[in-house]
Amino acid sequence: MYRNAFAVLAGAQLAAAGLYPNMTPDNHTCILLADPVLSCSEDAVPEKVDSCCTETYGGLVLQTQFWSTHTGLESEGQVLPPYTWTIHGLWPDFCNGSYTQYCDLSRQYDPQPAPNTTNGKPDGTPVPPYTGPSLETLFEPHGKLDLLAYMKKYWINQYAPNWELWAHEFSKHATCFSTFDTECYGPKASKYDDLFNFYETVIAYYKALPTWGWLSAANIRPSNTTSYSLSDVQAALSLGYGAVPYIGCSGPKYNQTEAGKGSLDNGGTQLSEVYYYYHVYGAAQRNQGLRVGADIAGGSVSSCAKAPGAIWYYERAAGSESA
Ligand SMILES: *[C@@H]1O[C@H](CO)[C@@H](O)[C@H](O)[C@H]1NC(C)=O
Ligand SMILES: *[C@@H]1O[C@H](CO)[C@@H](O)[C@H](O)[C@H]1NC(C)=O
Ligand SMILES: *[C@@H]1O[C@H](CO)[C@@H](O)[C@H](O)[C@H]1NC(C)=O
Ligand SMILES: *[C@@H]1O[C@H](CO)[C@@H](O)[C@H](O)[C@H]1NC(C)=O
Ligand SMILES: *[C@@H]1O[C@H](CO)[C@@H](O)[C@H](O)[C@H]1NC(C)=O
Repeated sequence: MYRNAFAVLAGAQLAAAGLYPNMTPDNHTCILLADPVLSCSEDAVPEKVDSCCTETYGGLVLQTQFWSTHTGLESEGQVLPPYTWTIHGLWPDFCNGSYTQYCDLSRQYDPQPAPNTTNGKPDGTPVPPYTGPSLETLFEPHGKLDLLAYMKKYWINQYAPNWELWAHEFSKHATCFSTFDTECYGPKASKYDDLFNFYETVIAYYKALPTWGWLSAANIRPSNTTSYSLSDVQAALSLGYGAVPYIGCSGPKYNQTEAGKGSLDNGGTQLSEVYYYYHVYGAAQRNQGLRVGADIAGGSVSSCAKAPGAIWYYERAAGSESA
């Protein structure tokens, strides 16, 4: 959940009447938009469009996924779904690749804010930890049990209950989209419309991004005996996605391992994350993204070791996968 990107404080505003300055006074009837504007294009600015209907700030949208081998809470039934990567989130980066976080502290549900100030520095606004009940308790009263069931299966946390990851993703990231701002839901919205709408939107993106299947089609499957090369993983996912995604590796650095001794390659050796980048037509909620390369704003496309055969795509631990 940490990234080496340049975090920017865009002025977290607490006022309910608009997350960002200069929000348009329109009625937010986005469905009437015949010709949605592409985020990060010249016209995607609040002076020209309704910020609820066009993503006007975080226009570079990332659907992020995890590959983990265990959850740490197996004994409580928190396990991983087989044959698929799991959901991390949907992030609104600025068009230049930097980003902001915890943009609306009136919608703070994260019990362990990370970072604990809005800009990650001691001089930032503190993000107070949420101390209310589990977000799981909200679904049934709002008729969202199907959504809950899906999230419990595919949106999996490590070392803490799943709902804490859901809460973290909403409060840290969703509050920074212009199109998930509370005022976009109109005066009669119920308190959690934005929350559920965000989760449903993330899932819609995720469902169109079968990382496991794209790798499998290139004969890249979890194995504790065969390692892989970054170039092959990149080729398989670029073919599936149509643009190069960001591929993240954790674990020991290659040149700290026996195999990489003496090498200058200090990339990670355990495949663990992928980020798919989009510009979006209109609101992210419309789910009409233009797939773009992870390097579109000049960012790196991987943290993994580049040496041939340097990457491990580990099998899940015994007992960490659901049947
Ligand atoms: C809402 O805004 C749209 C676009 O600006 C406009 O066409 C429509 O008439 C407005 N509807 C109401 C009820 O004000
Ligand atoms: C990136 O864009 C944001 C939003 O427009 C802006 O606040 C920030 O200063 C820009 N950062 C850089 C490094 O240009
Ligand atoms: C944030 O975390 C740091 C490091 O643990 C700590 O020193 C600091 O007091 C915390 N700040 C707030 C606002 O909680
Ligand atoms: C690993 O690679 C980095 C970057 O090339 C280099 O600075 C470092 O000295 C290397 N470490 C070892 C243990 O070889
Ligand atoms: C595969 O290796 C990983 C990393 O060492 C380990 O966590 C996992 O339990 C192993 N899986 C199996 C099925 O041996």
